[in-house]
Amino acid sequence: MATSTIDATNSAKVLVTVIDGVPEHRNQVSRALTSFYRVAAFDDVVDAAPFLRSTPPLALVVDESAKPWGGREAIKHIREDAALKGVRIIATSADDDSRFLARARELGCDAALAKPFRRSQLISTISGLVNYAVETRWDRLAEHHRRALRSSLDTFNGVSDLIDRGEPIEYAAVRLACSPLVEAIRRNDFKAVLDGVRGHDNYSYVHSLRVATLLSLFGHAMGLAETDLLVLASGGLLHDIGKMAIPHDVLNKPGPLTDQELVVMRGHVEGSVRYIGNCPTLPKGIGAIAAQHHERLDGGGYPKGLRGRDLNDLARMAAIVDVFSALTDRRCYKAPMAPERALVIMQEMSGGLDQPMLRLFVDLLLSSARESAAG
Ligand SMILES: [Fe+2]
Ligand SMILES: [Fe+2]
Repeated sequence: MATSTIDATNSAKVLVTVIDGVPEHRNQVSRALTSFYRVAAFDDVVDAAPFLRSTPPLALVVDESAKPWGGREAIKHIREDAALKGVRIIATSADDDSRFLARARELGCDAALAKPFRRSQLISTISGLVNYAVETRWDRLAEHHRRALRSSLDTFNGVSDLIDRGEPIEYAAVRLACSPLVEAIRRNDFKAVLDGVRGHDNYSYVHSLRVATLLSLFGHAMGLAETDLLVLASGGLLHDIGKMAIPHDVLNKPGPLTDQELVVMRGHVEGSVRYIGNCPTLPKGIGAIAAQHHERLDGGGYPKGLRGRDLNDLARMAAIVDVFSALTDRRCYKAPMAPERALVIMQEMSGGLDQPMLRLFVDLLLSSARESAAG
């Protein structure tokens, strides 16, 4: 019996299929993947087979409890199917002494996880398999570039565990993760970081890292001190953290959102504010960036429809960077917009964004583009 299915059209690039015979575990695993991937869940490999063949997923999570014959036979069944060659398989088991897990590689699996595992372990295992080529390139980068990417990704994924456990994130940890990035900005040597996330499938991370980079670059151009640059980079990394609770299908919907979906999507601001508000060591600026990055000077933003004077300077900067990043991000359903075109569109949003700041941002990006063309 299929326990949940999805519209599979064009979804293979973002699809993870779960086969687990225990409903509670199957739901836990499916929930853990929400916001990162589209999920199709089955309890039985025979039922799952036609779906798998029509839509081979990015990765397949097969539990020892898979019906009808158990995980071992399920994996053999999948590995013998030529149509599913190349699908990455992660074996899971509720028994940490399991021979099934010990023999996972021989069975043809790419990874094995014993339950209970943390949400970040599951995400980073799938992400490590899926993004193997992208993350392997990081090993060839300079030390500070590699650290900027690796530590920001680990911190970003780690927040999902903290949210699950209801624990705060410490500013010392976020600052440490963001300091190689700020160092790269100060050296005017950050392009390798932006290039490094190209092709990575974790869109929320890629967007947050781009916002963190451009926001600290913006702050650097405005002459802000290192402590403030760290707040900006950390605020960029955490600004959309509330999206961790939003289903992938809403987060990545190619077309316009329905009114109901829009409410869910906009709810990410409240989710971020609630979590950040429970983290006593995070500086106020990080909360302001999360709370106000969708507000607009003319009152047309959300969630509060704040106007002009009510908008914090950091949030004005974040609004500019967030719009620019969203337009120029590559998505599974759209190519990135050229930066020049994005800047023109932003200049036309005259009543919404802070115009003197936007002029500064445009100059900053144009001079940075000229430098790379010259270099
Ligand atoms: Fe946002
Ligand atoms: Fe954002």
